[in-house]
Amino acid sequence: MFKSLLSLTFMALLVATSPVQAEGKAPIVIKFSHVVAEDTPKGKGALLFKKLVEERLAGQVVVEVYPNSTLFGDGDEINALREGKVQMLAPSLSKFEAYTKQLQVFDLPFLFDDLEAVKRFQKRDKSRELLHAMSSHGIYGLAYWNNGMKQLTANRELRKPEDAKGLVFRIQPSSVLEAQFSQLGAKTVKMPFAEAFKALQAGTIQGTEGPWSNIASQKVDTVQPFINELNHGSLSYMLISSKTFWASIPYKTRTDLEAIIEEVSFSVNKDAEALNNNDRQRIIAAGNAKVVTLTAEERAVWRTALSPMWKTFEAEIGADVLRAAQAVNRR
Ligand code: LMR
Repeated sequence: MFKSLLSLTFMALLVATSPVQAEGKAPIVIKFSHVVAEDTPKGKGALLFKKLVEERLAGQVVVEVYPNSTLFGDGDEINALREGKVQMLAPSLSKFEAYTKQLQVFDLPFLFDDLEAVKRFQKRDKSRELLHAMSSHGIYGLAYWNNGMKQLTANRELRKPEDAKGLVFRIQPSSVLEAQFSQLGAKTVKMPFAEAFKALQAGTIQGTEGPWSNIASQKVDTVQPFINELNHGSLSYMLISSKTFWASIPYKTRTDLEAIIEEVSFSVNKDAEALNNNDRQRIIAAGNAKVVTLTAEERAVWRTALSPMWKTFEAEIGADVLRAAQAVNRR
């Protein structure tokens, strides 16, 4: 009697807590792969997503997070998503050029005054439309996540644009970033994120660009003597899934997941700047590299040197998108 009561209680619990399993359906598995460390805005966002899904959709959805390029690197992760080998990614916006040229707007140097301007643009209609710009390639944009403003790390102090001349920089696969360095007389190598540290150590490249959180978590300050604080552009991400996978999720679960994503995106974007400031302080305190801070006049010289690029890329990006982006600055 006692035994059967126990098993009845167990059955009732099962029905109450995991409806999908009770119906005999296996939970939906979302593999979320990314290339950065866990204590970065994206790394934390992925973990928060997993936590909230575990709390609210237990038994219905399981999230597995693979950080640090452990499952796929940035050379192959988008293909893996399209082939159904992973279900969620958050590549930087510089990595989508093969699928749309419009997102290049985010790479244009000095286009956005600061991260707040980037965030304002991401809320505008034009930017929301870009979440669907890769739809014909089966890519479904869910949200924008931000890391932070980029700095130039190098084996030289870079106070003036011409100081970068002759150096080889590792870049993400973006024509805008290639043009940015070429405008400075520097060379570039497109290289996966995971390979940059070794290339710096080996001396095959002499510089990189990235936000404080990536510089700190990859220990770039231990192999680059100068971090030049330019804040010339942002490193931002698009949280994506595949259209086929997303559409295959039952409506109610999909709506719940989208509500969680909204909450996580808010948290990532709220905390990213503080996290980057913290990493900046850590780097200064560690004292491995010299942080070179520019005066407003020095920074203006860089802006003048690089802003002609906006016009060069206007046709590919779309004049409407470019105009909408420029309109968010408060100068
Ligand atoms: C990079 O390749 O530098 C970044 O996109 C890495 C990342 O995901 O933050």
